[in-house]
Amino acid sequence: MSDITIIGTGNMARGIASRALAAGRSVQVLAHADRAKAEAFAAELGGSAAVGVLGDEITGAIVIPAVYFEASKSITERYGAALRGRVYVDITNPVDFSTFDGLAVPEGSSAAEELQKSTLARVVKAFNTTFAATLQAGKVSGTQLDVLIAGDDEDAVRAVSELAQAAGLKPIVVGPLRRARQLEQAGFLNILLSANEAAPEFQWDSALKFIPAS
Ligand SMILES: NC(=O)c1ccc[n+]([C@@H]2O[C@H](COP(=O)([O-])OP(=O)(O)OC[C@H]3O[C@@H](n4cnc5c(N)ncnc54)[C@H](OP(=O)(O)O)[C@@H]3O)[C@@H](O)[C@H]2O)c1
Repeated sequence: MSDITIIGTGNMARGIASRALAAGRSVQVLAHADRAKAEAFAAELGGSAAVGVLGDEITGAIVIPAVYFEASKSITERYGAALRGRVYVDITNPVDFSTFDGLAVPEGSSAAEELQKSTLARVVKAFNTTFAATLQAGKVSGTQLDVLIAGDDEDAVRAVSELAQAAGLKPIVVGPLRRARQLEQAGFLNILLSANEAAPEFQWDSALKFIPAS
């Protein structure tokens, strides 16, 4: 058994796996299709992660598909009842890349809510507002990263908050799963700003931050 199963070996998988291992959690990494990719990924992270490929048994109580929205939907379908009761962290920003002018989710919904409709897992939205590069260090310009979290299941939200906290990040619970609509728009805004050449100070290594009153 692992604490956390990360699906994918891309940018966000690397960022989140780095933080999870820094938090002392045990990690299983499932590559899309190529076991050698998972092995190389685990070696890069220090060698302690268990490895496999999509379709292998999921061992983590917390599952983090570090993949795009369409792939995440296929993962909920593929694993079906095997996801029952697990915490499923939706990190996706379902940007409509054909227009780069909005999100590719139904009006009045979010990727996280759409995923929840198709899975017996407890979906929690988190990590979609933190860029991969910033997760590696957990800080930007010496400032702790915020992890904005939304979910309907109190225990699942707590489990994700505890993971973020243990990883040196600042969890901020913003409300029920429908708040994912706002988180996905916030993630999109962050992307737009980073893609905007007129705002060179906000690049893919910058972060959204809520500053509390002292
Ligand atoms: N990058 C960021 O800073 C950032 C920030 C916040 C949220 N996000 C979100 O995080 C997610 C991942 O982004 P990323 O930048 O990490 O992407 P990425 O580097 O392109 O990695 C995507 C991963 O998905 C795997 N994959 C592709 N198709 C798949 C399928 N059908 N089933 C299972 N796995 C599949 C890929 O495996 P192969 O390469 O082996 O096919 C790869 O490991 C996206 O939803 C994105 O919106 C990204």
